[in-house]
Amino acid sequence: MSKIGVGIIGTGSIVNTYKKCIEELNDVSLVALYTKSSQRIEEAEAEFGVRVLADLEEFMAIEEIDLVCVCNESGRHGDAIKAAAKVGKHVLCEKPLEVTTEKIDELLEFSEKQGIKLGCVLQNRCSEAYRIVENTVKSGKLGKLLMGNAHINWYRPQDYYAHSDWRGTLEYDGGAALMNQGIHTIDLLINLMGDVKSVFGSVRTLIHDIEGEDVGIGLLHFENGAIGSITGGTALYPGYPEKVEIYGEKGSILMEGGTIKQWNVKEVPAPNFDVDKNDGSGSSDPTAIGHQHHKAVITDMIEAIDDMHPPMVEGKEARKAVAVITAIYKSSENEKMIYL
Ligand SMILES: NC(=O)c1ccc[n+]([C@@H]2O[C@H](COP(=O)([O-])OP(=O)(O)OC[C@H]3O[C@@H](n4cnc5c(N)ncnc54)[C@H](O)[C@@H]3O)[C@@H](O)[C@H]2O)c1
Repeated sequence: MSKIGVGIIGTGSIVNTYKKCIEELNDVSLVALYTKSSQRIEEAEAEFGVRVLADLEEFMAIEEIDLVCVCNESGRHGDAIKAAAKVGKHVLCEKPLEVTTEKIDELLEFSEKQGIKLGCVLQNRCSEAYRIVENTVKSGKLGKLLMGNAHINWYRPQDYYAHSDWRGTLEYDGGAALMNQGIHTIDLLINLMGDVKSVFGSVRTLIHDIEGEDVGIGLLHFENGAIGSITGGTALYPGYPEKVEIYGEKGSILMEGGTIKQWNVKEVPAPNFDVDKNDGSGSSDPTAIGHQHHKAVITDMIEAIDDMHPPMVEGKEARKAVAVITAIYKSSENEKMIYL
């Protein structure tokens, strides 16, 4: 297979993670970056060491780009995906795929029509610890699932929002604590517990000067009859490692900060608790995440382009967490249960 050429939309902080991954991978090369601001070109070229363009059409016309990585503000993901799909380029998009299910549905339809591969980066699915948990739960070793909880009780200072023109805005962040920070753990919960049937939620903006929520909770009813909950925030000082709790008839598993904390499964001995111990959590520092899981997602996407398998998190799969989060928002606004 010849090298896959990568073009990146965006020049923000997450692009450094991609740069590191691409440098370490043999079968990809970074071709060019796109920025919406022409004043940023010179600075970004010095920072990332490749051509940076401010003309989207010109960027999309670069033949050497096979895969477009969408790394700009969340509420602008859709426009970037559509532009790439229009010219038949495959897309790997940062979470969330977009900030509303309506926008996502439009994207899914268009990318399917264009015959491109669309993957979403929800990289926590790649952790070794999570994969052990996923295999155990999905092979039925926990028996009937009873309850699943996700807690993302994190902290961000006001500066985190004040220094950004999109974070915490409804248009470009789609909300705040749940849509931006909570989504990873909410995705893990849904992937383990199964599809959500209905949601009752409550969100508030208590200490930050932002449009989106800085605390939120959701009560979940899963299609399989189990119940569950989500708590999340960016107002919860100092920010504790995120947790996923899965309870079944035959035992329970608790994960914290991406590692296995408790394993009490009647028929399955506990695995090594040390797997993924050094991967870090973004509970109080957004830069504290490693790049290894992104590297696994990019590798998976390259294999998907090579028709070895579908992308690890396809568009329709990435829609699920956004559907639950937006249902929590809607429920909070209307003070009623929302059926998905
Ligand atoms: N998978 C993850 O764990 C993870 C982590 C961080 C961000 N993200 C996602 O990546 C996307 C981008 O997030 P980010 O943290 O990189 O945001 P960011 O604020 O650093 O960058 C966002 C955009 O702002 C613009 N920008 C940044 N610096 C600029 C500058 N100096 N001058 C002019 N424009 C500038 C660029 O267009 C850039 O693409 C979001 O969708 C976010 O949800 C995912």
